[in-house]
Amino acid sequence: MYTPNLAPIPELYVSYESAQKLKVEAAQLISWDLTPRQICDLELLMNGGFNPLKGFLSEQDYDSVVNTMRLANGALWPMPINLDVPEAFAEKLEIGQDIALRDQEGVILATMTVTDRWVPDKAREAEKVFGDDDLAHPAVNYLHNTAGAVYLGGPVTGIQQPVHYDFKGRRDTPNELRALFRKLGWRKVVAFQTRNPLHRAHQELTFRAAREAQANLLIHPVVGMTKPGDVDHFTRVRCYEAVLDQYPSATTTMSLLNLAMRMAGPREAVWHGLIRKNHGCTHFIVGRDHAGPGKNSAGQDFYGPYDAQTLFKEHEAEIGIEMVDFKHMVYVQEKAQYFPADEVPEGSTVLDISGTELRRRLAEGLEIPEWFSFPQVVAELRRTRPPRSQQGFTVFFTGFSGSGKSTIANALMIKLMEMGGRPVTLLDGDVVRKNLSSELGFSKEHRDLNIRRIGYVASEITKNGGIAICAPIAPYATTRRAVREDIEQFGAFLEVHIATSLEECERRDRKGLYKLAREGKIKEFTGISDPYDIPANPELRLDTENVEVDNCAHQVILKLESMGLIAG
Ligand code: PPS
Repeated sequence: MYTPNLAPIPELYVSYESAQKLKVEAAQLISWDLTPRQICDLELLMNGGFNPLKGFLSEQDYDSVVNTMRLANGALWPMPINLDVPEAFAEKLEIGQDIALRDQEGVILATMTVTDRWVPDKAREAEKVFGDDDLAHPAVNYLHNTAGAVYLGGPVTGIQQPVHYDFKGRRDTPNELRALFRKLGWRKVVAFQTRNPLHRAHQELTFRAAREAQANLLIHPVVGMTKPGDVDHFTRVRCYEAVLDQYPSATTTMSLLNLAMRMAGPREAVWHGLIRKNHGCTHFIVGRDHAGPGKNSAGQDFYGPYDAQTLFKEHEAEIGIEMVDFKHMVYVQEKAQYFPADEVPEGSTVLDISGTELRRRLAEGLEIPEWFSFPQVVAELRRTRPPRSQQGFTVFFTGFSGSGKSTIANALMIKLMEMGGRPVTLLDGDVVRKNLSSELGFSKEHRDLNIRRIGYVASEITKNGGIAICAPIAPYATTRRAVREDIEQFGAFLEVHIATSLEECERRDRKGLYKLAREGKIKEFTGISDPYDIPANPELRLDTENVEVDNCAHQVILKLESMGLIAG
């Protein structure tokens, strides 16, 4: 039914000679420094991974994709691919103007002719594309809190691929994979998409898929951007490499895909299918909860577990790639073998370890059984994620000025230093403002910058196995969340709300600032003339009224112990 796609696919690159010329000419152009996500998108635009797109979407195509999952010309395309920029940058441009697209070091990758510029309705985009305008969805959060306010559209002229220093030999463009399949004589290829390490269930699933489709197997993991909190791609690729010799090398290969995922479930599955078709595959595995974003803010799943399979099936012919669908794989003890959940022999004992349970076992240094994973994979994961009691972490205090943040933070630091084992750094609000942020004031923009700087330092400390204690006011929930995301890539983040009431802070008025604020002598004073978002779900909320400092600090220690961050 699905013929192999072995002819080369159109790319957006110009010839080597033209690229050299363009690079020189582009020095005159206004430059846009691409965000990490845009670099991923651009790479797949340029190398044909996003064929039939010829650039970032025009407004008309965007509207059509958002509303109908199709480009304006009717071609199936489920995901808006936009060049989002801040208003200030967009204002500098004329329609019809060429701009240079550069990576974060300033290396030119492409030029783009700006044919469209518009302010999108992001709430509508979220509803239509992700099914819900809920910030608990990582892509919705990105849309509202990271993406620029204005979208630019227009055709792209490719100059060179983004540079990758890691796993160079494992990265292939669609045409490189097509050429490989031609060379190997692989007419049928089933692709397996993943953003997780491969365990035995995945191996069984991919074996079965290849057998069912009588096809060769392409393990095609995403190494661009995945879900915040995922195992980093360096570790994952080392894990994949360790498992690869469990596969027959004559019929299996692995290639890394620099895709920025959106976790859009059903729409994402269709998008993944189109991308794999472009990479020369004939079959694509869609399992349970494909590209699932986790729970929404009401604690419910955003999508049904098999919604992605349903939407894919509806569009299968048009995508041009055959779906190999799988139910969740589970281990049947009596048979010492994996089965799809709906084929388990009656009366048998089913064993399963969820992602959450695996993370818990790694975090607590507990056993991970052989039936679940491969010893090399477990060893690699343990190297990256030592038990929580040996990992770095961040304690982030937030509360009004004078609420007692600094005093409790100091007491906590001393207690942790008494225990020893990990270096402790205190990033106190006042101290940071003297050193790291001495030029900043208290506007929203400056406060955000201040907190992002604190978050950056704390994330570096956490990454390197230390303990960071932060004690700024940090009045904005979105900024606190961004800091949490930065840090949770590397270790635990413990938000502690020092819930001293404004009245009590004002009554204490240790620094005399509330009086000045009331008199209007200090502007934008938190709680008086500036907002404070009370943390909705902090790991810990401390009542300081009628409670000793020592006891407050001790409550944090108990919490850290209960989270496994300090050994009992
Ligand atoms: S923020 O919003 O998180 O960047 O603020 P932060 O850096 O923690 O503020 C540190 C101290 O600055 C003093 N101060 C003010 N606070 C709030 N609003 C205004 N306008 C202001 N001007 C000066 C205040 O004493 C904060 O100290 P703490 O340690 O919180 O009492």
